[in-house]
Parts: sequence; C-alpha cells; structure tokens
Amino acid sequence: MIQTIAHFSQQIQSHLEKKVYGNQPVELYEPIRYIMGLGGKRLRPALAMMAYALYQDDPESILEQACAIEVFHNFTLMHDDIMDRAPLRRGKAAVHEKWDDSVAILSGDAMLIIAYDMLLRTAADKSLRALLKSFNQCAGNVCEGQQYDMNFEVRTSVTEEDYLEMIRLKTAVLLGFCLEMGALLAGADQKSQRMLYDFGVNIGLGFQLKDDLLDVYADQDKFGKQVGGDIIANKKTFLLIKALQKADTDQKEELQRWLSLKEFDKTEKVKAVTEIYTDLNIKEVTEDKMNAYFAEGFRLLDELEVHETKKALLRDFTQELIKRDR
Ligand code: IPE
Ligand code: IPE
Ligand code: MG
Ligand code: MG
Ligand code: MG
Repeated sequence: MIQTIAHFSQQIQSHLEKKVYGNQPVELYEPIRYIMGLGGKRLRPALAMMAYALYQDDPESILEQACAIEVFHNFTLMHDDIMDRAPLRRGKAAVHEKWDDSVAILSGDAMLIIAYDMLLRTAADKSLRALLKSFNQCAGNVCEGQQYDMNFEVRTSVTEEDYLEMIRLKTAVLLGFCLEMGALLAGADQKSQRMLYDFGVNIGLGFQLKDDLLDVYADQDKFGKQVGGDIIANKKTFLLIKALQKADTDQKEELQRWLSLKEFDKTEKVKAVTEIYTDLNIKEVTEDKMNAYFAEGFRLLDELEVHETKKALLRDFTQELIKRDR
C-alpha cells in the first residue's frame, strides 16, 4: 500500500461508501446514511491506520475497526447537535433539524450499536477483549465530558483546569483511543500503546482548543457549523475563561451581562463578545495553549521507539490539524 495521507483518506472514504448500515425501517437508517454522507475530515480512522502503519505494512486490514470509530464519532455528533441546539453540521442541516429530536436520538443509538458490531470484526479474540475494554473506558469518558460541558453552560465559575479536564474527556481521549487501537491491532507492546494514547490525548486537547477558536473566528462558508454557536450557548470555552480572567471591570461587566441575558439578538451577542475577545488578544492566548499541547504530542512521538521515517506521515497529518480552517 502506498502510504500517503491522501491514500489513507481515499481508502477510508471508499470503505465507508460501501458500508450498509441497515434497511428497514428507512426512518431509522436514512439519517445514518445522511450524516455519514456529509463527509467530515475522517481524522479518527486515519489516526488509527497511521498508528498501525508504524508497525505493520497492511493498514488496510484494519479499515473496518478504524471506520467503527468514525461511526461512533458521528453518533456523538448527532446527539451533540441536539444538546447544543446546533442547526448546522458540515454545511447542512443537523439531523435533529432535518428530521426531529426523536429521530436523532434513535438513529444515534443505532449507530453506537453498529460501531460495536464493526469493532467485533477483529480477528484475534485476545486483542478484541483488550480493544473493547479500552473502547468502553473511552466511550464512558466521552459521556462524562459531554455532561460536564452541559453542566458548565449554566455554571458561573468554571476554571481553566475544569475546562481542560472536560475537553480531555469529551474529545481528547477518543483521539488517544484511535492511536492506541492502531498500535494494539498491530501487536505493538503496551508501553508503545500507552505512548501513542498519550500522544493522541495531547493532540486531542490541541484539537478541541482549535475547535473552540474556529467556533469564533472561522469563515462561515468553510467551517460548516454555526459560527458563534459557543457564544450563543454560553459554552465555557477556553476563550471565555481567559477573557473573564483578563477583562477589566467594564469588560467583565459586559461579558457577565451577555452571559445572564435570557433573551437576546444572537448576532449582536456574538459580535459584542467577539469584540471583547479581540480586544484582549484571546486568539493569541488560545493559540499559545493549543501549540503547547501539539508540541507535547510531538515530543512524545519523538520518544516512541519506531524508525523516524515511519513517523513522518503522522507528523505531517498532525501539522495539518493545527493549520485546519474547518
Ligand atoms: C467535531 O469533530 C467535534 C469535536 C470533537 C471538536 P471533527 O472536527 O473531527 O468533525 P468532522 O468529523 O471533521 O466533521
Ligand atoms: C463536541 O464538542 C465533542 C463531542 C461531540 C463529543 P463540540 O460541541 O464543541 O463539537 P462541535 O463544535 O459541535 O463539532
Ligand atoms: Mg456541538
Ligand atoms: Mg457540544
Ligand atoms: Mg465546537
């Protein structure tokens, strides 16, 4: 197999296109085909395959397990968009908008089951047990992180530490799991699995910081989600926490006022809060934090006992995640 980022993406894409999720009742399966058909970066299966490729030459052999994680990820998005009242996903109507909440709940549930079914296609029973154990740990963490995220919407004091733990749970551990899974399926030793997991958690923390940044500063056409959604929902993002820390008395008062308003003009709120962020250089502060996590990830990758040439793909791919605009 030619090992380039584009080739991995293409293999993942064509594997997912061939996937049959189920047929009847169509009301259950159509939303699954819809969200899976909306594309997305497909970074989680790519990370799993790249970790596997550090140790073995046939990464295409784990396409089914790698894509299981993409199905799981899309299930979390389907439910996340209900929870966040998000209208847009990848430039199209979110499932709960196109259909309704009940449809998004049940199709999401079916996707979680399909993800397990796809993981079950793992050949060796020994790795399957370890795989499911790690996956369950990770999926449980995602639920915990999502609940903290919701709790924080209505909590007034959320510290930087609270926030970092919340994003570790809701986002970072899944990236860690993808890398760990790739290494595990390739037969790598436990220490290497752990190092790749830690690499994934660090780049996952950087990845969510970038997601928070894009939520404020992205170009609406490229982003595909509602720009300003986090501000509208009073999400306690790194940007808001830092702004509250750095604000003078007037700025703090204005931020608090927007946070407490039950009714407001969305565009006006997004504009006012973004202006305060910009005045306080919050973009730069967040980028510094993000870069620090990616740097720690790269440091861990340096330490991994695998020939340097093998690591190039994972490095390049991670660089692209830092630069992304969607
Ligand atoms: C969105 O994930 C949810 C987060 C964890 C930030 P992605 O940014 O990977 O979404 P897609 O799959 O590429 O659309
Ligand atoms: C979502 O975080 C993380 C999960 C889906 C578990 P966000 O709520 O920030 O993700 P987006 O921005 O809607 O993609
Ligand atoms: Mg969301
Ligand atoms: Mg959310
Ligand atoms: Mg987001």
